[in-house]
Amino acid sequence: MRKTGWLVFIALCLPVYGFAGQLEPFKDIPIPLQNPQTPEKIELGKKLFFDRRLSGDGTMNCGTCHDPQQGYSDGLDISLSYPTTKNWRNSPTLFNVGLQKTLFHDGRAESLEDQAIFPMMSAYEMNQNLDFVEEEIRSVPEYVAEFAKAFGDPEVNLQRIAMAIAAFERTIVSNDSPLDRYLGGDTKALSPQALKGYEVFTGKGQCVNCHYGVNLADDKFHVLNVKENPEHLKDPRIAATRRFVAKVYKYEGYRTLAEDPGRYLITKDQKDWKAFRTPTLREIASTAPYMHNGIHATLDEVIEFFDAGGEKGSKVLKPLQLTSGEKEDLKLFLEEGLTGTPTTFKYPKIP
Ligand code: HEC
Ligand code: HEC
Repeated sequence: MRKTGWLVFIALCLPVYGFAGQLEPFKDIPIPLQNPQTPEKIELGKKLFFDRRLSGDGTMNCGTCHDPQQGYSDGLDISLSYPTTKNWRNSPTLFNVGLQKTLFHDGRAESLEDQAIFPMMSAYEMNQNLDFVEEEIRSVPEYVAEFAKAFGDPEVNLQRIAMAIAAFERTIVSNDSPLDRYLGGDTKALSPQALKGYEVFTGKGQCVNCHYGVNLADDKFHVLNVKENPEHLKDPRIAATRRFVAKVYKYEGYRTLAEDPGRYLITKDQKDWKAFRTPTLREIASTAPYMHNGIHATLDEVIEFFDAGGEKGSKVLKPLQLTSGEKEDLKLFLEEGLTGTPTTFKYPKIP
């Protein structure tokens, strides 16, 4: 059992890992030809990421909801939002986001360059006017000089703002975890209990069916029937956000939409009703609460959810009948095995 699980994991990892080894930033993260990484552009993107000018009322930057101290998330079930409004989903970690084939819980954005514009203009996130933010950045001489260094000429525009932020995001990498070292041949990298948890992960727990490859995610969408939070369903601010997004995505029933339709909103394919993207499990110990709506506060809760075969009616998951020992081992593997070596984050000085 143990050996088969390991072989399956390695086989599934091969396409991205090469011959099982560590993920190398700048080498394994795909870089678009039209937006090459340069140190100047990355540094500029980092400043913009933490610049509160990007929000309408000047209180929020990208790091407000993707905080390096909180696994590039914000520690809340549903994310922060523009004052008086409410967000409707959990803020995902940005670790290894450069590896994601689609972005957002429903995959509605495809590139980091496209994605960066959404939160800036989104009424319930940064609520900034896009023409205005261009002028704000353009008016800061230090920025103009940095755009010149990053792009070859001093032109500041929204597209370049997004390109610089995307370049910075591609450097947010978690790679040096005990699992990486274990797969790289260091048989002692995982503690004996974490190793048992890894066997549950790849064997009886069947987690590896969807959580595989270098990012422990299959880039697909699944209907796990994660339940709605009844408190959220009662909140008119969340209803407004949900209906607003549904209207933007031309969902006819947006005015009476009472739950999160997931991937369906984008594809309008019935099989995608409440399907959500498999998230990465890297740095999972620091990105609670979990799931697209943060319904599960702890990894114990998530493990109970999968052990029960998801919520009632799930066609994708089956009860696992894990023993309490197996659940503990699995949790330890997730916490210990997938956490990279901590590094101190250096915040930029905003011009
Ligand atoms: C008010 C909170 C908030 C702010 C501010 C915010 N985000 Fe997010 N971010 C979220 C939430 C919530 C999601 C998930 C939304 C969804 O799936 O519909 C998200 C998703 C993302 C994703 C997709 C990650 C993935 O794995 O799919 C990226 C990339 C991202 N944000 C980058 C940014 C950048 C860049 C900025 C600044 C320009 C920013 N965010 C500002 C809350 C925020
Ligand atoms: C059929 C595919 C599938 C299987 C099997 C599966 N997962 Fe997942 N997992 C998902 C999807 C999809 C989500 C996101 C659900 C959502 O956001 O509503 C998820 C979410 C999670 C999360 C929360 C991540 C976050 O950042 O919010 C954890 C932790 C997790 N899974 C661990 C496991 C473990 C442990 C197992 C095995 C016991 C497992 N998964 C089996 C598809 C799967």
